[in-house]
Amino acid sequence: MAKIIEEVSRTFSEYLLIPRLSRVEHKTGNVSLRAPVAKYRPDEEESRFSLNIPFVSASMQSVSGAEMAIALARLGGLAFIYCSQSIEAQVAMIGRVKSHKAGFVPSDSNLRPDATLADAVALRKRKGHSTIPITDDGGMHGVFLGILTDKDYWEFDDDLSRPVSEFMTARDNVILARVGVTLHEANMKLRQCKKECLPILDANGRLHSLVFKKDYVDHMSNPDQLLDKEKRFAVGAGINTHDYKERVPALVEAGADVLCIDASDGYSEFQKEAALWIRERYGSSVAIGGGNIIHSDAFRYLAEEARLDFVKVGIGGGSICITREQKGIGRGQASALMAVAAERGKYFKETGVYVPICSDGGLSNDTQIIIALAMGADFVMMGRYFAMTNESPTPRVSIGGRVYKPYWGEGSNRARNWQRYNQNDSDTGLKFEEGVDAYVPVVGNVKDVLDVTVSKIRATMCNMGSLTVKEFADNAVLTRISEQSFVEGGTSNVLSLEKDIPRNV
Ligand code: IMP
Repeated sequence: MAKIIEEVSRTFSEYLLIPRLSRVEHKTGNVSLRAPVAKYRPDEEESRFSLNIPFVSASMQSVSGAEMAIALARLGGLAFIYCSQSIEAQVAMIGRVKSHKAGFVPSDSNLRPDATLADAVALRKRKGHSTIPITDDGGMHGVFLGILTDKDYWEFDDDLSRPVSEFMTARDNVILARVGVTLHEANMKLRQCKKECLPILDANGRLHSLVFKKDYVDHMSNPDQLLDKEKRFAVGAGINTHDYKERVPALVEAGADVLCIDASDGYSEFQKEAALWIRERYGSSVAIGGGNIIHSDAFRYLAEEARLDFVKVGIGGGSICITREQKGIGRGQASALMAVAAERGKYFKETGVYVPICSDGGLSNDTQIIIALAMGADFVMMGRYFAMTNESPTPRVSIGGRVYKPYWGEGSNRARNWQRYNQNDSDTGLKFEEGVDAYVPVVGNVKDVLDVTVSKIRATMCNMGSLTVKEFADNAVLTRISEQSFVEGGTSNVLSLEKDIPRNV
């Protein structure tokens, strides 16, 4: 006979936090939002991979492209570049993130000295780089002859048919450094010489890389940036249980720091096979996550048998998700998260290994993010939240005078991500949809929205007498609220300027 779980399936908005004693040290500036991603033994070691803020973006076509990954890593989070595209296209996106910023950037906009000014203008427009090294063969590691920036010519006044060699600053007049210089020395040289860019040459005079002042400024103004060992932005990649033997080697080669098996239901032997295959080849050099799951047995299986680094929780709660109505599968996200967090706690007591968990989907406001962290999520994955920002890969559309962006589920006919939904057979079609094709309003840059969310989390953590995410979850005391308190949770007995009084009155 079917077993019925006694407890009703609950969601985040049914809970509120009860403040704990705030001591003098509980100031927002003292709060650390670092979150482990790779499993670890807290008594003996640090996690091999941690986030500086507990946010990752969903592995979805309408959310996580290279631009999102750069924006999130700059702030300390991580994007999972979607896998519902060819291996080559996904690798190219990882490559764009990795080459975006580093201390020493290989130059990918170069010209030969006999190229014309028109070629330089076209290259600048195509790649967006205003600094163009001139090398003997036009390659990124050719013999360095000089440098051309957009200050060296006037696009609408100069004769565009003339060669760039006539406009460039020739090598003898360029401030240079040799391979072996440290990043700090290179930056100090830029400062002394009041330059924007420092070409680094090898012993044969060939171009090795460039160091930019703007990268230093960017680094100093975003102290939480999430970087890899080579000081490039960190990036995650979604993978599936079908083509991982080809996809994973290409992604690791391209520099992906974290892999996550993207499946609607992660309690499967397919997921275990994929995870073990990757672990065997790459050991602990790359963090591997999986899911999604919603109960304790599934957590045990993925932590113990599949040996995953982190596990993602959530089925049926996504804003574009119709899995619950299509297949009758799912669980209220609060109940799912608490069940998995409890099992994670037991597993930790037994083994000393802490397996981070990620709450994925259905977070529709900042309060719900806070409750998810309080209930034991180490970090959260969001789709809609990031789809609404300027950095999501979709075009802006105006509908009825307001600006929106399209946002569609991976299980919709538009995404055709059959690998996420059919783990068990090689049928390449979607027989029915599990996601919808929708629009979301545009809210601004990732930085602007995350700043507000992060401020709220820091403030709440201080109310809860906690300075770390882990302490916050350990200290949290929550209360269930009645339907009436939910209704009264907002403003009451007043007219709201936002909701009740039209702006033009
Ligand atoms: P959101 O943050 O509520 O928009 O949910 C995003 C999450 O929904 C993703 O991280 C996925 O786990 C899940 N998801 C993505 N596409 C679909 C779909 O088509 N159907 C069901 N769930 C989906």
